[in-house]
Amino acid sequence: MHRHTSKATTDGDRPRVKAFFHQDSSTFTYVVHHADSAVIIDPVLDYDAPSARTSTTSADAVIAYIRDRKLRAAWILETHAHADHLSAGSYLRSTLGAPMAIGAGIVQIQKHFKSLFNLGDDFVPDGRQFDRLLQDGDDLVAGEMSVRVLATPGHTQDGLTYLIGDAAFVGDTVFAPETGTARCDFPGGDPARLYHSIQKIFALPAHTRLFLCHDYPPPGRSEAAQCSIAAQREGNVHVGHNTMEAEFIALRRARDATLPPPRLILPALQVNIQGGRLPLPAENGITYLKLPLNQMGPKA
Ligand SMILES: [Fe+2]
Repeated sequence: MHRHTSKATTDGDRPRVKAFFHQDSSTFTYVVHHADSAVIIDPVLDYDAPSARTSTTSADAVIAYIRDRKLRAAWILETHAHADHLSAGSYLRSTLGAPMAIGAGIVQIQKHFKSLFNLGDDFVPDGRQFDRLLQDGDDLVAGEMSVRVLATPGHTQDGLTYLIGDAAFVGDTVFAPETGTARCDFPGGDPARLYHSIQKIFALPAHTRLFLCHDYPPPGRSEAAQCSIAAQREGNVHVGHNTMEAEFIALRRARDATLPPPRLILPALQVNIQGGRLPLPAENGITYLKLPLNQMGPKA
């Protein structure tokens, strides 16, 4: 007769990673799981700009995956305050009962956008909209998995990489090698900081699986969530081949000067600084977002 005295599997050092690709914003949402515990990273709330209609189709697919496998969601994590999609963090938090966390740098982003959107006193820009604000070096427990937090700012002030076993969720630091790196021209963005954040990722153990926040595949290739450090070091068109810091900063600044604002930046930031909560409805029962005129992009 066998005695089951040892653990059936590893201790979460090589968790399973399920990627969900959100076609409209080219974003990856991840469910990272081991045994009966799961972590959800960067969930997306569907938003149709012409109709201003939100829906939870994409988030519901994540919920179905978790429920089908009888997983317990331990954390809902944002790699940063996204400017290209609305977060489904709040929806998943209330549906699955898991706490939600983001980088402590969200407070600076909240202050900036509170001012732009002229939000009232009921919006306090101190991160209270999240269950936890994370700092470099923090560790979260998710069942037998442990989540190590690495601060990787530059694209935004609150940028984090989550290291779960051998899997690193790098947010908007590097994209696929042929598309390079994330822009650094949002308020508080800084190409020098992004350069150092990327070096930090490159210094992770060589076998680390990198999971990207987005993919913008060229024609003929389908989206790819995962990449190796070697492929980035050797092939990243912005920061591979031992690119020097000054060279990267010059390249990033020149490129950022040509980029239009992301299509959904105004709805996205308005909702994402609230942890993915929509504003309260007006007296007529309708919920509104604001559009500050002539504030974004280059002056004509
Ligand atoms: Fe981003």
